[in-house]
Amino acid sequence: MTCFLIIVPPGLCKFKDIKWLDLSFNDFEGSIPSCLSNFSNLQLLDLSNNGFSGKIPASTFSNVTSLSYLSLAKNNFSGIVEFRSFAHLSKLKEFVLSDNDLEVETEYPMLNSTFQLTVLGLSNCKLNKDTGGGIPNFLYSQRELMVVDLSHNHLLGKFPNWLLEMNQKTRSLESHE
Ligand SMILES: *[C@@H]1O[C@H](CO)[C@@H](O)[C@H](O)[C@H]1NC(C)=O
Ligand SMILES: *[C@@H]1O[C@H](CO)[C@@H](O)[C@H](O)[C@H]1NC(C)=O
Ligand SMILES: *[C@@H]1O[C@H](CO)[C@@H](O)[C@H](O)[C@H]1NC(C)=O
Ligand SMILES: *[C@@H]1O[C@H](CO)[C@@H](O)[C@H](O)[C@H]1NC(C)=O
Repeated sequence: MTCFLIIVPPGLCKFKDIKWLDLSFNDFEGSIPSCLSNFSNLQLLDLSNNGFSGKIPASTFSNVTSLSYLSLAKNNFSGIVEFRSFAHLSKLKEFVLSDNDLEVETEYPMLNSTFQLTVLGLSNCKLNKDTGGGIPNFLYSQRELMVVDLSHNHLLGKFPNWLLEMNQKTRSLESHE
């Protein structure tokens, strides 16, 4: 059974058993609802294209290990996100943080990801600003990538051809600027 709900955050916390929560393309504001940490069956969480702001606390996702789709793109989230706080989400396939006011750090602390992503969106995320601005090393362990967007991060280094060689199904790879 899957449930599909579009509701406003105030009544949200009661629905902690749902599997899909799509609040995208609304005008929701404020911080990320902290009760999401109790949504232990959640497979899809799409908060993209809203006005959510504030930090993305690592604790929000520490128990939401059923997630396979997570998009927080196009909001006003800020602060530093340690990519490692998502590394335990072993079922994660599609992960998009693009176009917030975030600084995303993938290199320190080091992460050993348990996921194999098919879609990764880290456009405009000041990626690895404090650790040299390189292509994320965890991508070396990814074998199923189809869409990767690392654009608008001022990344240093060459176009990562190895990504294409390791991920034969890659359809789209952006790393310009
Ligand atoms: C999670 O659920 C427990 C038990 O219902 C509750 O006490 C707690 O406040 C909830 N956590 C959040 C962050 O809402
Ligand atoms: C995660 O679940 C454990 C065990 O149920 C609980 O003790 C802990 O407080 C939960 N963490 C969060 C951030 O909700
Ligand atoms: C985003 O958040 C900052 C504060 O962190 C605030 O000054 C700014 O107005 C917000 N922008 C939008 C578009 O909501
Ligand atoms: C990552 O994995 C390596 C090899 O399995 C291990 O030596 C290392 O301690 C792990 N690092 C972390 C941060 O878990």
